[in-house]
Amino acid sequence: MNVVILAAGMGKRMHSDLPKVLHPLAGKPMLGHVIASARALQPKRLIVIHGHGGEAVQRAFPDTDLHWAPQIPQLGTGHAVMQATAMLDDAYPTLILYGDVPLTSVSTLQRLIEAAAGGGHGEALAILTVTLPDATGYGRIVRAQGTSSDASHGTAGRILCIVEHKDASESERLINEVNTGIMVAPTARLKKWLAALSNDNAQGEYYLTDIVAMACNDDVLVTSAQPDDEWETLGVNSKSQLAALERQYQCLQAEELMTRGATLADPARIDIRGELAIGRDVSIDVNCVFEGTVSLGDRVRIAANCVLRNVQIAADTHVEAFSHLDGASIGPGSHIGPFARLRPGAVLADGTHIGNFVEVKNSSIGSGSKANHLSYIGDATVGARVNVGAGVITCNYDGANKHRTVIGDDVFIGSDTQLVAPITVGDFATIGAGTTLTKDAPANELTLSRAKQVSFAGWKRPVKVKKD
Ligand code: UD1
Ligand code: MG
Repeated sequence: MNVVILAAGMGKRMHSDLPKVLHPLAGKPMLGHVIASARALQPKRLIVIHGHGGEAVQRAFPDTDLHWAPQIPQLGTGHAVMQATAMLDDAYPTLILYGDVPLTSVSTLQRLIEAAAGGGHGEALAILTVTLPDATGYGRIVRAQGTSSDASHGTAGRILCIVEHKDASESERLINEVNTGIMVAPTARLKKWLAALSNDNAQGEYYLTDIVAMACNDDVLVTSAQPDDEWETLGVNSKSQLAALERQYQCLQAEELMTRGATLADPARIDIRGELAIGRDVSIDVNCVFEGTVSLGDRVRIAANCVLRNVQIAADTHVEAFSHLDGASIGPGSHIGPFARLRPGAVLADGTHIGNFVEVKNSSIGSGSKANHLSYIGDATVGARVNVGAGVITCNYDGANKHRTVIGDDVFIGSDTQLVAPITVGDFATIGAGTTLTKDAPANELTLSRAKQVSFAGWKRPVKVKKD
């Protein structure tokens, strides 16, 4: 199989500097979805036709299995495929996909490929078609009329040609079966047909769809297949269509997640922009966003309005509302949030508690340790059973370099302590509240830095002086 993906269109109606096919759907460029589906078919050659913003498109996909062919200017879909002909291997059929039709399923494409195998009639030209209540704008599938065999074009119902909306007659516009644009063609024939295309039509373009009539002339069977679902063939020309497909895809993923056993408070209010692996009895409240690779162990609960990106969470951990977790790994039975922020390199052992307005970055937190309120833990190694008081801060950055803080096991750090790194606190140490720790604190001892408290007996508050 050769695969050609048409991605040269500029997407004027997106009103964007970003090339259309790079607009993300579920966190991945539309073209990325199409390339992934194409790869699932294990093609011999995978060619992308690029035009508008071509360099940016190519840069977004540096993969070596992709071949690129520029199309400048863009003179129509037939002209687009012509740019790939030199790279097509005649020994295999050619599948044509669109970079702005991101959600065609692999099973639908396989059905189309089977249709192109011709069922004993040799290589056929196979078109993916759908029947729409309103077919305005689409190329119409014109089939042979009547019930008996037609002298020149075989049996009734056989596809004779595709007529573009702008070139269609009144009666042709009544046809509801449309060309999705996706097709499989016998490659040597395709090259010959492309070479014979003309642009003598309403749009002055080289229409790929004109190869259908040529196939009929050459007595090549033209067949069709239909997608599992209509939305699989929807293209994106506007932000509104992009949003509609995004929601479609998210609903699908939510359904699939529930099939795997997740409890979703509302399947319409979840966004998965990557891979989400789940154990048993996972529950997810509304408005959570999952990005990259996320895994949730058995009985993990995610409360409302959380964002999780590249996070691994072990069993029985609860994440409370409004937490933002990025690049973190959390052990079992932990309690995170509300309003927690875990940044890349946060590695939490089992039974940890990270509370509201606590930020943890590039730090490991030992088993059973707690930081429940208003803290910054950066570049630190925190032992087991440590209590980090409210407002404790690791001063990891001296303005030029980052330094580590090492805290042993069973340490108690009083509220509002600053640990000026590099610094080490020994096992079982206690740090008094309000301490600015600039030297290592020994194990088992109380360490504090604090100005002596004084009280002034008989002191009077100033009173406001009256002006006259
Ligand atoms: C095309 C089909 C039409 C079909 C419709 C489905 C033709 C002549 N018509 O119409 O039968 O119903 O798609 O949406 O094929 N592209 C290029 N280079 C070009 C022109 C287009 O790469 O010179 C790409 C576009 O980026 C897009 C795809 O081809 O991804 C389809 O182009 P578009 O202009 O949207 O096709 P239509 O004219 O709407
Ligand atoms: Mg067009």
